[in-house]
Amino acid sequence: MSEMSETHDQLNTLEAAALAELNTVTSADALQAWYGRLFGTKRSKGALDEAMAALGSLPREARPAFGKRANEVKQALLAAHEARQVAVREAELDRALSSGAIDVTLPGAPVQRGRLHPSTQTLRRICAIFAGLGFEVYRSPDVETDANNFELLNMPEEHPARDMWDTFYTTQPGVILRTHTSPGQIRAMRAFGKGGSAPIRVVLPGMVYRYEQVTARSEMQFNQIEGIAIGRHITLADLKGTMTEFARRMYGDDARIRFRGSYFPFTEPSVEIDVYWGLATERDRMITKGTGWLEIAGAGMVHPTVLRNGGYDPAQWSGFAFGMGPERTAMKLYGINDIRHFWANDLRFLEQF
Ligand code: DAH
Repeated sequence: MSEMSETHDQLNTLEAAALAELNTVTSADALQAWYGRLFGTKRSKGALDEAMAALGSLPREARPAFGKRANEVKQALLAAHEARQVAVREAELDRALSSGAIDVTLPGAPVQRGRLHPSTQTLRRICAIFAGLGFEVYRSPDVETDANNFELLNMPEEHPARDMWDTFYTTQPGVILRTHTSPGQIRAMRAFGKGGSAPIRVVLPGMVYRYEQVTARSEMQFNQIEGIAIGRHITLADLKGTMTEFARRMYGDDARIRFRGSYFPFTEPSVEIDVYWGLATERDRMITKGTGWLEIAGAGMVHPTVLRNGGYDPAQWSGFAFGMGPERTAMKLYGINDIRHFWANDLRFLEQF
């Protein structure tokens, strides 16, 4: 075999091997590696350059034919590379599209819907009703002074009525957890009464705390919503009208209420308010303990001492106040037999509301 055909054979072999290898390339990385092996990289010479080096050792007359053939091989390989590059790009795009494809027939993962706590729902509903009757909603703090919680509400130290509320004390003398929302009355009068010169209508929702044995019937924390209205000519009739309208909006158009005489140190006179629930079914009988009436609030005319402590002159001003416990009412209405359910965080309970 002549020297010339031998070098041509080398080129042919190189071309055939490179093309065969190119056919197996399916990724951009492999394609780049293939290109580097043949045409060289920054760091290494390519196989084609190495084959071309044979040119120098060929007889002068053989060189043009070899050079021509080498150039043909180079062009053929470059053309094949370009064609393969298009194919690889398409294949990679296809792969990316099919791996990211959305199967619209796949059922969605169910989303757990959150909701407000039943007590929050009730408090908000009550606030909305009173807002509609012209009351502002005001939040007063859970941590209170003994003065606001008792003393300024007409219960000086050693007053026997303090026994109605078992109290959580803090390590700070004179600072307690509020046992009812009534201290908010003092705060509301002082915050909005303009030194006893302006009428106010405020409701105060929030948590109260009692140092009590936790049982099915009593919890050491629960919500109340307090209301207070102070004006120049407010009478018990205003309390009655307001609570009647509240009951209509809360319990339906034909709701009726009644007042029963009661005692609270911060009101005079004091009442308890019942809404007529009915006695049609066995359940009604259970809810109302056979009376047909459902107790919804304690209330009364703000005691002159309390008015004075709020900055008002009781000779000029009068007002009514009320306090409700929404959990107690919810328990009766929904037949909840254990008050501990409210704060047990058991979703089976909470999801029913
Ligand atoms: N604070 C009372 C309690 O926790 C409820 C109450 C009674 C509030 C009469 C009032 C009221 O505003 O006038 O038992």
